Amino acid sequence: MIKIKVGVIGAGRWGQKHVDEYSNMKDVELLWVSDISEDNLKSCKEKFNIKNVTTDYNDVLSSDAEAVSIITSNETHFEVCKAALQAGKHVLVEKPLTLQPKNAYELVDLAEQSNKILAVGHLFRYNNAINEVKKLVENKFFGDLYYLRMQWTIQWMPEIYPDKKLDIIVDMMPHLYDIMNYLTGLWPKNITCFGKAFIKKDLEDTAFIICEFPNNIITHSEISWTLPEKVREVDVIGSKACAKIQAVNQKVTVFENSNEGRKINIKENNTLGDELKSFLEAISKGSTVSNDGIIGAKTVELVEQTRKSLNQNKTIIL
Ligand SMILES: NC(=O)c1ccc[n+]([C@@H]2O[C@H](COP(=O)([O-])OP(=O)(O)OC[C@H]3O[C@@H](n4cnc5c(N)ncnc54)[C@H](O)[C@@H]3O)[C@@H](O)[C@H]2O)c1
Repeated sequence: MIKIKVGVIGAGRWGQKHVDEYSNMKDVELLWVSDISEDNLKSCKEKFNIKNVTTDYNDVLSSDAEAVSIITSNETHFEVCKAALQAGKHVLVEKPLTLQPKNAYELVDLAEQSNKILAVGHLFRYNNAINEVKKLVENKFFGDLYYLRMQWTIQWMPEIYPDKKLDIIVDMMPHLYDIMNYLTGLWPKNITCFGKAFIKKDLEDTAFIICEFPNNIITHSEISWTLPEKVREVDVIGSKACAKIQAVNQKVTVFENSNEGRKINIKENNTLGDELKSFLEAISKGSTVSNDGIIGAKTVELVEQTRKSLNQNKTIIL
């Protein structure tokens, strides 16, 4: 069996999940893991038995790895991803693709010119609960779509993000915009965002975002770091039926003509594992991924416009 040679750049909290997945794939040879933190590299050696570790990601880029996963902090995505594409690697970079839309589109162009795959960590495209509801939307089970109500909450975790100035809009909204697009096939026409800084006084931790879409569809997103429970829910409301998706444990309940819900049978899957497999499959077959750079760039653009709406206290027409 020919193994695909892979490198991982960024082995923190989420990056070690990529390392774990690749280490367990029979058709993958995980050549290198890079992180600027020696502690994280030590942890990869101990937990996943990784031999080649480095604090300089150029070691990964100059190796004969065909593909790299980039899971570094958001502000480094552009620099590392650009260098990886220039070194001729296929790249899967975590969301958000970049912080600036122009940088995101530069990466899309670079991938196209060098004929390499640029995939973005829009994980929920690989969540079986979301996928099942997407099929229902396509089969007109809901009739006309009225609106999507999305709730993405968790408690702020200072032990994980001790002094990070992590913007909740940048952190969470790429997933939500991606899910909106994935389920409806559409992008918003306008965005209105209202937010508050309850925990830290200078950076919002809670926001409500309303978007109008073509076809009379509305979305309402609640994102917050103030609630104790991890909630990742999407309600789909249509003229004929409604559904509640609980994305964390992959449960879907549908409501038709009554308030008596019916659970749909979902075969729970390993979303990150399936995302990485689809990336590797696209490399070996020369095909494409659904979570491509264009989707990533468009969500970066929408994140920027959401922040603009919040800062300027007005609706942004796109
Ligand atoms: N798709 C998802 O559901 C999902 C979930 C969690 C995190 N993420 C994304 O993953 C990324 C990392 O998040 P995290 O929670 O693991 O953060 P983290 O801070 O735990 O990890 C980031 C790691 O990158 C390393 N790093 C920074 N610059 C580097 C460089 N130049 N070379 C090598 N390593 C470098 C840091 O040392 C750190 O270990 C973020 O972009 C985040 O948005 C995505």
